[in-house]
Amino acid sequence: MSYPYQIKDLAGYHEAYQKSIQTPDAFWGEVAENFTWQKKWDKVSDWNFKEPSIKWFIGGKLNITENCLDRHLETMGEKPAIIWEPNDPAESHRIITYKQLHLKVCQFAQVLYNNGVKKGDRVCLYMGMIPELAIAVLACARIGAIHSVIFGGFSAQSIADRLDDAKANFIITCDGAYRGAKDIPLKSVIDDALVGNKNIQRVIVCTRTRTAVSMLKGRDVWWEDEIKKVAAQGTQFVPAEAMDAEDPLFILYTSGSTGKPKGVVHSVAGYMVYTNYTFVNTFNYHPDDIFFCTADIGWITGHSYMVYAPLSAGGTSMMFEGIPTFPDAGRFWDIIDKFKVNILYTAPTAIRSLMGFGLGPVKEHDLSSLKVLGTVGEPINEEAWNWYNEHIGKNKCPIVDTWWQTETGGIMISNMAGITPGKAGWATYPMPGIEPVLVDDKGEEVVKTTSDEEPGILRGNLCIKQAWPSTIRTTYGDHERCRTNYFATYDNLYFTGDGAFRNEAGQYRITGRVDDVLNVSGHRIGTAEVENAINMHAGVVESAVVGYPHDIKGQGIYAFVIYTGSHAQDTHGTADMVRKDILQTVTRIIGPIAKPDKIQFVSGLPKTRSGKIMRRILRKVAEGELTSLGDTSTLLDPAVVDEIVKGVL
Ligand code: WTA
Repeated sequence: MSYPYQIKDLAGYHEAYQKSIQTPDAFWGEVAENFTWQKKWDKVSDWNFKEPSIKWFIGGKLNITENCLDRHLETMGEKPAIIWEPNDPAESHRIITYKQLHLKVCQFAQVLYNNGVKKGDRVCLYMGMIPELAIAVLACARIGAIHSVIFGGFSAQSIADRLDDAKANFIITCDGAYRGAKDIPLKSVIDDALVGNKNIQRVIVCTRTRTAVSMLKGRDVWWEDEIKKVAAQGTQFVPAEAMDAEDPLFILYTSGSTGKPKGVVHSVAGYMVYTNYTFVNTFNYHPDDIFFCTADIGWITGHSYMVYAPLSAGGTSMMFEGIPTFPDAGRFWDIIDKFKVNILYTAPTAIRSLMGFGLGPVKEHDLSSLKVLGTVGEPINEEAWNWYNEHIGKNKCPIVDTWWQTETGGIMISNMAGITPGKAGWATYPMPGIEPVLVDDKGEEVVKTTSDEEPGILRGNLCIKQAWPSTIRTTYGDHERCRTNYFATYDNLYFTGDGAFRNEAGQYRITGRVDDVLNVSGHRIGTAEVENAINMHAGVVESAVVGYPHDIKGQGIYAFVIYTGSHAQDTHGTADMVRKDILQTVTRIIGPIAKPDKIQFVSGLPKTRSGKIMRRILRKVAEGELTSLGDTSTLLDPAVVDEIVKGVL
């Protein structure tokens, strides 16, 4: 299999880009010709950002799993589709060929049918990183059920909220998951999430850790037993449901600046075409390359670049169950050498954490199979970029810095390996089809440089002018929320929530969120969400959460908390205990990933006369910039700030 739409050189990029902007329908129509359609589309696109209403490949019928599996069987049935490496290096790895994956997906699709799952049902997946998770995702897609994968680090309460929001009626989980030295009791968390839930008809439990689990009669069934039944029925093949191009493929929850996480919805065709196109071109993927994306399938990166894009491209996807530092900090490098990985796609936070172990764990490794490196999830600092380039890529592998979001479905701004130049800390050029624009707070396009030090550099809020095939379609169950979050800030633009620079060459550098969303170890967490969780603690009156620079995580979480519970008041010595109680509360409400790194008790928060918290001041305090807090005269009580500064952790 080769890719007729693979860009070959810099001129090819410019040509593709021009065409994609001038005649997007012709451009994407041509790319889409390379997929399997049950019925071809009538019209390539029809969209407006007002409602928003975004449609691609209108009238087309297809199933993404036919594109990820069936179409490869004849020519590459014996090729590894997924190579899986377990958490514990002493356990055997698994290689699943396209033929085997196809069979497993068909069998599990039949299991879903047998258990009453129908097209359009919402199925929640809460599993560890085992091949069965990818199989379950694909089986849902095969029968047209809408999957919603929840990352294993979320709590029962978070799951309950998501189940409720998605009106989910089925769950697929595992008894437990291995993560480094820990066993995570997934099924038991699901049981807690299901207390009082009336919608869930069936929980399918896959065995991994064989931790003791409660199996409720009439509700819970074992994956393996169900597979045995369909094997006994002789199921080898389940036809792929005919999906409309615009039918939803999945819901994935992500944090915003307000309220609870929202369910980002992507539809089948546009998502398939765009993720495949960006995969092939960003990474300069060639059909025999082994592609190792280290993200969890619980995040968008895992959806797009571990499951759907590599498989729709007939590639080989490396899947790893564990963490980069277990049993030691050479784990990634072991895997790369063991399987001769060609492309590594990981997060800056992982690079920074591995840098901290020095060169010892890297040195014993060959790493010569690597051709391309990639990063995603947060801005990469120059030091980490240089380390990655020198010690992992040995100065011969291009590093693609890929900027994108859950809402964008696929990579939006990035250099292309070996095609367009990279630049440390810069995501550089937009993908074909993507027209970025920088605007000021009023929505005016930024055309003048504001900095004398960096001539020619523009700075603004990053927006996108035209719809692309995998634009977010809606937020599940609340279309208005989608409109106000992304399409109402500025007229006729998709607003990303990020700030960016653009240089005279037209390259972009993403500076980070301009809204109240944190990026902790590449995970998005809303400050409002963390505050709500802290405020659930019985003794907490009010709290304010901001981010601060953190050497490894990128951003850490700093919480200012007004606490009136008796413990903190009685004696100062118990403050640490109260902190632990608050952390426990956040772990219960959201999950361990949202635990603040620092909690400072305060007696008041800096508020304007209209009662708005001045986060700008708190951010400076958290960043340790205590002498440049700016104007505090508009505060209701400026004395609060002095007290906060005195109590800084
Ligand atoms: C940030 C992850 C700088 C950004 C795919 C964005 C980045 C948010 C980069 C989306 C990058 C992602 N450089 N910042 N290369 N990639 N971000 O939805 O703030 O988990 O808005 O999607 O991560 O996070 P999400």
